[in-house]
Amino acid sequence: MTIKECQANKPPVVFPHKAHAIDRKLACDTCQHTQKGLKAGSDTLVHKCASCHLDPTDKAPSCKEKGTSKNPYHIRCLGCHKENADKENGGGKAPTKCAACHKG
Ligand code: HEC
Ligand code: HEC
Ligand code: HEC
Repeated sequence: MTIKECQANKPPVVFPHKAHAIDRKLACDTCQHTQKGLKAGSDTLVHKCASCHLDPTDKAPSCKEKGTSKNPYHIRCLGCHKENADKENGGGKAPTKCAACHKG
């Protein structure tokens, strides 16, 4: 899937959903944090991150943020990639460089 709801300065980001949710068996609520226990194939409507994170009026971090420590996608995506990069000794296949996610 392509994440482009918050796009302003950078090219949209391709998120290989299958590689994460199926191949790596990540629980849906690893990312879908407001829908605890969400299961694949259930008919529950999945809330888009941007529905809360595009123009937040509460404590939710904004997905328009440029900072790697402030953007909700950066916190979640990069946070995990960095952990895995450490484990896998220098990067592995979990990208941490800007251009590896923001292609084009
Ligand atoms: C692991 C993947 C990943 C990496 C690495 C990454 N980003 Fe992002 N970034 C995203 C995602 C996903 C979004 C949300 C995209 C959207 O909705 O348009 C985003 C959003 C942004 C945004 C706000 C939206 C926009 O288009 O202005 C900026 C700016 C940005 N990133 C800059 C950077 C910079 C600079 C780096 C390197 C220091 C970086 N990113 C590294 C995944 C990544
Ligand atoms: C229903 C609204 C809603 C949706 C949908 C939502 N968020 Fe959030 N998010 C929030 C709020 C409110 C906060 C701040 C309070 C908190 O931490 O729970 C937050 C905080 C965060 C944080 C910072 C706190 C932390 O857990 O490190 C990240 C990262 C994050 N969201 C990522 C995401 C991503 C990625 C998605 C989509 C897969 C998403 N959110 C979907 C409302 C939402
Ligand atoms: C909980 C951990 C975790 C989260 C969260 C996560 N990733 Fe990953 N991602 C990984 C790991 C581990 C890999 C290495 C894949 C492998 O081993 O095959 C990876 C690989 C990737 C790749 C390269 C895959 C390929 O086949 O080339 C991209 C692109 C990517 N992630 C984007 C993202 C984006 C964008 C987000 C946030 C929307 C994200 N990831 C969230 C753990 C995570």
